[in-house]
Amino acid sequence: MPVITVENLQKRFNLEAGFFARFGRFVYAVNDISFHIGENETYGLVGESGCGKTTTARLLVRMYESNGGSVIYRDNIDVLSLAKKELKQYREKVKYVFQDPARSLNPRMSIYEVLVSGCRGSSRWPRSCGREQQLREAATAILEEVGLGKEDLERRPSEFSGGQRQRISIARGLLMQPDLLICDEVVSALDVSIQGQILNLLLDLRDKRDLSFLFITHDLKVACYFCDRIGVMYRGELMEEAPAAELYKRGLHPYTKLLFSLDNTGVKNSNPQINVTGCPFADRCPIATERCMKEHPALVEAGAGHKVRCFQISV
Ligand SMILES: Nc1ncnc2c1ncn2[C@@H]1O[C@H](COP(=O)(O)OP(=O)(O)OP(=O)(O)O)[C@@H](O)[C@H]1O
Ligand code: SF4
Ligand SMILES: [Mg+2]
Repeated sequence: MPVITVENLQKRFNLEAGFFARFGRFVYAVNDISFHIGENETYGLVGESGCGKTTTARLLVRMYESNGGSVIYRDNIDVLSLAKKELKQYREKVKYVFQDPARSLNPRMSIYEVLVSGCRGSSRWPRSCGREQQLREAATAILEEVGLGKEDLERRPSEFSGGQRQRISIARGLLMQPDLLICDEVVSALDVSIQGQILNLLLDLRDKRDLSFLFITHDLKVACYFCDRIGVMYRGELMEEAPAAELYKRGLHPYTKLLFSLDNTGVKNSNPQINVTGCPFADRCPIATERCMKEHPALVEAGAGHKVRCFQISV
């Protein structure tokens, strides 16, 4: 049974001003995407800057309200209509590790406070005279699990390197024993050697715990290394979805091929999707035809667990 099932999810933002305003009023940041994440599965969401990865993640934890579609947790919890109390419980099970640890860790808090501040209202740690002691023990254990130590609890975020801060963010996400950890570009701001250390930490955690991941990155090669299945996203839509090994060997979509050819520094901005006619990739596609400008390709089966959105891929 999937931990999370996303169907036809949509989010558009108003375009009040600026260059694109004259083409239409909305940017379709997430445009009808569907995917699921299984138990203990790592699902990668990959695409260039601006394609809608963070918006998707935020919709999953209701930091944004969607404009359509559904998000089902486990077998029947309708996330998009949860009331406040149930939403809080859900957010203990689905944790979001933010893109930028420098900004998401409050510089005035000690690491202990950073880790436990979200836990005090939770049913896992009810108000009692022993609660602080239990929280301290849990915070120490989780910090050690991510490679830091008890002595770090009283230090401030600014005393740590970028890699260490990311470890702290991951520890904060894990403290509630979530089922699903959403990791949004958790390695992209780090040096390559530190990236490897954080990825190895995540691999260790995945082996030790019953944990599913939504792993968001612009780097398709990193995703292929880390993920079980991958969805390639462009202008708010899934262009291709496949098991990671299959995508690596037999990526079919012209955009997937382009992503493989980019090095880590070659990330371009994909312009937002403002016009939904035609293939979203048509203006950059080397094999586009006239049809691609006028018709919108559907995401169709291209093999076992493999789907692709392109008129020119014959299966
Ligand atoms: N709060 C917002 N208001 C208006 N537009 C937004 C908002 N958040 C995102 N967008 C737009 O939605 C699109 C998708 O943005 P999003 O942040 O989800 O992309 P991303 O794939 O996470 O990019 P990055 O790799 O840079 O983090 C972009 O065009 C962005 O400008
Ligand atoms: S549908 Fe057309 S424009 Fe879109 S990816 Fe395929 S060939 Fe390229
Ligand atoms: Mg983002």
